[in-house]
Amino acid sequence: MPKVSKIYTKEELCLMEKVPQACGIVIFGASGDLTHRKLVGALYDLFLNDLLPKDCFILGVARTRWSDTEFREKLKLSLGAGADPGKAAAFLEKFTFIAGDYSDPALYKNIKENIVKRGAASAGTIFYLATPPEIYETIGVHLADIRDEKSKIVVEKPFGSDLASARRLNSTITKVFPEKRIYRIDHYLGKETVQNILMFRFANAIYEPVWNRKYIDHIQITAAESEGVGHRAGYYESAGAVRDMFQNHLLQLLCMVAMEPPTSFDADAILNEKSKVLEALTPLDTAHAVRGQYDGYLAEPGVSSKSSTETFAAMKVGIDNWRWQGVPIYLRSGKSLAQRVTEIAIHFKHVPTSIFRPLLADQLCSNVLTFRIQPDESVSMRFEAKHPGPKLCVSTVKMDFDYQEAFGIAPPDAYSRLFLDVMLGDQTLFSRADWLTMSWKFLDPLLERWKKSGSAGLIGYAQGSWGPGESDQLLTNDNRVWMNDGFLV
Ligand code: BG6
Repeated sequence: MPKVSKIYTKEELCLMEKVPQACGIVIFGASGDLTHRKLVGALYDLFLNDLLPKDCFILGVARTRWSDTEFREKLKLSLGAGADPGKAAAFLEKFTFIAGDYSDPALYKNIKENIVKRGAASAGTIFYLATPPEIYETIGVHLADIRDEKSKIVVEKPFGSDLASARRLNSTITKVFPEKRIYRIDHYLGKETVQNILMFRFANAIYEPVWNRKYIDHIQITAAESEGVGHRAGYYESAGAVRDMFQNHLLQLLCMVAMEPPTSFDADAILNEKSKVLEALTPLDTAHAVRGQYDGYLAEPGVSSKSSTETFAAMKVGIDNWRWQGVPIYLRSGKSLAQRVTEIAIHFKHVPTSIFRPLLADQLCSNVLTFRIQPDESVSMRFEAKHPGPKLCVSTVKMDFDYQEAFGIAPPDAYSRLFLDVMLGDQTLFSRADWLTMSWKFLDPLLERWKKSGSAGLIGYAQGSWGPGESDQLLTNDNRVWMNDGFLV
């Protein structure tokens, strides 16, 4: 079992959590799925860890006509039967509820009065937009009447549906809040394993010298889901895999892996380097993009029988800079695939020549470093070893670092971390406006092209597979294969 040799105490590590100052949190979309599936649990985690300020109050806002008691009852269900009744009750006391129409100025007047009544919070109010995205602009405009110089806004993804709409939304929000108080969520950045990419790359000396085109052959980034669209067709039909997963999560992962070392662990320094990666992306060759739809998608509730929405996409992208020139990066993501797994695999080049003849250099497996983002969070290295015995046999083996095994705890929830950072005013794990603009600029031509071609070029794939064969072809054309099932393929 790997040994954890040193754990820094909170005092030693100034990077670590501080307890935020008292604040108010207003959640728009408080009767919605996100609030109940993610936000309430994340806040409860902070509460249990004494990271939710004692004087913090949380105001739920939605169109549904609930009383405070009804709201708390729903939240209690979201906490699950395992929650300690005493602690859950103390936590839920922080919550109140206001019903109203998002376009009605009276709602905002009511919210403001409520905030004032609950007492001026020293760190100001956080306005969390967890509604359907088409309401973001309406709420943004009305917040101008009730925000103050300490207020912050949190905007859930999707941030726009193309470059024009993202710019419009951004312009609405930046008229009301300065960039330093805007938190655009990408929950993948809150995942412990994603944050660890920076620690891995920049707190260790041995990887940086090989982290470039000289040693790396290609990179694969996979975010596969085994579930289908479920009850989310209303949103997903107008989004599709590229808007839902690539424009945000996959491009964020790509930036974490490909960015230059920032000068410090400071939000601006990191966000600057991430933006430079997007700036250097080679325009996407649409011939290097595959889109698929799982068989049976058209029969899902809420899905149009003529839908040309992609539930799978794969693409080959390139970064035109000194570090990455000529290193292809293959991205793929889809629903109803063989397995739920998110993984970044760095494939190193083959040895230049083989002394183990008759095995040739390219018959020896190349080294692969894998960041397993989820599940079974780990980092592993594949390498060749001598198989025990008198003969000279080569075996491919791996070295593993497993989070659970090493630390004895499961990685904390992404949303808790992100909530904490908003309260503390740390923007490191959020998307900046320029990054978002560039991500849409990169993907818009592909999305437009696909829209024009309708269902032509949309390839069906079996549920439980790894997507259309054309996705495999994308790699086999380059003499490479997707690493579908761990290392030893
Ligand atoms: C969301 C997408 O952003 O991420 C969903 O809208 C997707 O479609 C989800 O299922 C995946 O998140 P996670 O954390 O389960 O990998």
